[in-house]
Amino acid sequence: MTLQLGDLAPDFTAETTHGPIRFHEWKGGSWAVLFSHPKDFTPVCTTELGAAARLKPEFERRNVKIIGLSVDPVASHVKWEGDITDVTGQVVNFPMIGDPDRVVANLYGMIHPNASDTMTVRSVFVVGADNKIKLTLTYPASTGRNFDEILRVIDSLQLTATYQVSTPADWTPGQDVIIVPAVSDEDAKRKFPKGFVTKKPYLRVTPQPDR
Ligand code: BEZ
Repeated sequence: MTLQLGDLAPDFTAETTHGPIRFHEWKGGSWAVLFSHPKDFTPVCTTELGAAARLKPEFERRNVKIIGLSVDPVASHVKWEGDITDVTGQVVNFPMIGDPDRVVANLYGMIHPNASDTMTVRSVFVVGADNKIKLTLTYPASTGRNFDEILRVIDSLQLTATYQVSTPADWTPGQDVIIVPAVSDEDAKRKFPKGFVTKKPYLRVTPQPDR
């Protein structure tokens, strides 16, 4: 079964480097990023985990918990963490799920047989405070992810969950946003007191409302 945006993120129990967890309980009312790696002791994954650890305070600032997964056991993750610190200078400061039986990987469709029957691809699931899936990404083993981009998307998701706006191409926080077409001009004047510019009848831009 493929998980779609808006689906409930499946709950599970798992062993992690921070002890056993039940996903929904661990997550609580926070947002979460659940991301998988093909395998332990692999080069790209080593750099990715260091990058994620470096940005953990940024995720926390957005009320987001992060958790990694690979199909290797927790004992292997723990050994690998030493290498990650050696190489990246970062202590892995978030839990890593050990999933040797591929229970969680299968639940989330993280194993793509066209890529490998045995390894997880680089999946990313952003899960909202309501436990619904807000974003999915799938990268091949050869391409490391950009965790700044994941933060950027979370900024957009959290903003657009609160205000009737969308964010344009390459948007970064602080830049103008787009008023959703369903809002009439009359309502827009009330909802966006900083004003808006009508570039086209269907494209109205306004300063980011919460700044
Ligand atoms: C890597 O992270 O570099 C990697 C992962 C799976 C297969 C090969 C390389």
